[in-house]
Amino acid sequence: MSTDKLRLIQCGVGGHGYGWVQHQTSQSPDFDLVAIVDVVDEQLTKVGEEVGIPAERRFKNLEDALKHVEADAILTVTPPVIHAQHAHVAFEHGLHVMTEKPIADTLDNAKRMVEMAEQSGKQLVVSQNYRFSPTVQTLKQLLNDQTVGEFGHGHMDFYIPADFTGSFRETMEFPLLVDMSIHHLDMIRCVTGRNITKVTAQSFRPPWSWYQHDPGLKMLLELEGGIPFSYSGDWSALGRYTSWNGNWRLQCGAGSLHMENDKLLVARCEKWSKDLTVEEVESTPLERGGPAATLHAFAEAIRTGQPAETSGADNLHSFGAVMAGVTSARENRTVEVAELISG
Ligand SMILES: NC(=O)c1ccc[n+]([C@@H]2O[C@H](COP(=O)([O-])OP(=O)(O)OC[C@H]3O[C@@H](n4cnc5c(N)ncnc54)[C@H](O)[C@@H]3O)[C@@H](O)[C@H]2O)c1
Repeated sequence: MSTDKLRLIQCGVGGHGYGWVQHQTSQSPDFDLVAIVDVVDEQLTKVGEEVGIPAERRFKNLEDALKHVEADAILTVTPPVIHAQHAHVAFEHGLHVMTEKPIADTLDNAKRMVEMAEQSGKQLVVSQNYRFSPTVQTLKQLLNDQTVGEFGHGHMDFYIPADFTGSFRETMEFPLLVDMSIHHLDMIRCVTGRNITKVTAQSFRPPWSWYQHDPGLKMLLELEGGIPFSYSGDWSALGRYTSWNGNWRLQCGAGSLHMENDKLLVARCEKWSKDLTVEEVESTPLERGGPAATLHAFAEAIRTGQPAETSGADNLHSFGAVMAGVTSARENRTVEVAELISG
């Protein structure tokens, strides 16, 4: 193990956690993976054997791992209901925390995690990896540069029939809104540089859906500056699919910006003219994208003491918008995000 690397314990090496170990944490230039934790023995054995974590560094719970292994940080890739528990244990032991999205199962737990990070003087980072894709970052740049003028309003569609047989998503109350739209709302904040201030949401379960609760969503957002942004999605939609990033239209004063099936399009048309020009724009490559970017940002936050772009405190604005959607859908009213974050 290298001495200048930070020491990381990864909790949850199942579905998505398996990919984290294989592609990121076992080969990170910033971290040494010093232990793995999972409640399922078979996962521990499989992952441990595959990436060379010996049996004495595989644990059934985080407390046990911390008794036997020295570490600087944890990453938790467990169901959202576990994130706050892991953060609590890690902060009490003086460790930094990175968690998968959504930051927690409830806004109270998310706020408690942010408070614990502040009180312990440790970093809390949420892996909102979707915002670190070349397409999303280039769309942000095109909007920021006013490529087709001033931004006025936006829309995005997300339609993917996702099979989560056996996963917590089958039975959770708002699977699309809480587990997936969190990425999209976070991306909307990232691309527009504006927080979401108000949410009006209708959540529903199409008759053919295989989820116990609602995979369908119609949502109207208001962004800072009074910008309207609509969102439509269904995680049980058969037919034409969008990409996981969704299909976007950002309407600006002199044309529109689009992300469609991960292609970027700039559409221009003179006022009253029928001569539309549509130009495809190549995305600018990133040094690091996706989870590699969030993991590196976590290491940088630990080394510099400066919060990461997707810190826990920042993430309250994304998760707060999601939970405003939950409240709106439940109570059939428009909800101010600030009312929830500061409440
Ligand atoms: N950012 C992304 O693109 C992305 C993609 C998929 C999942 N996720 C997120 O990752 C997290 C995990 O999702 P998943 O799909 O891997 O779920 P999963 O249910 O497939 O896997 C969760 C793993 O955590 C383990 N686990 C459960 N309780 C535990 C505990 N107390 N301690 C240690 N391990 C425990 C389970 O045994 C399992 O191996 C969720 O928050 C999810 O939203 C993010």
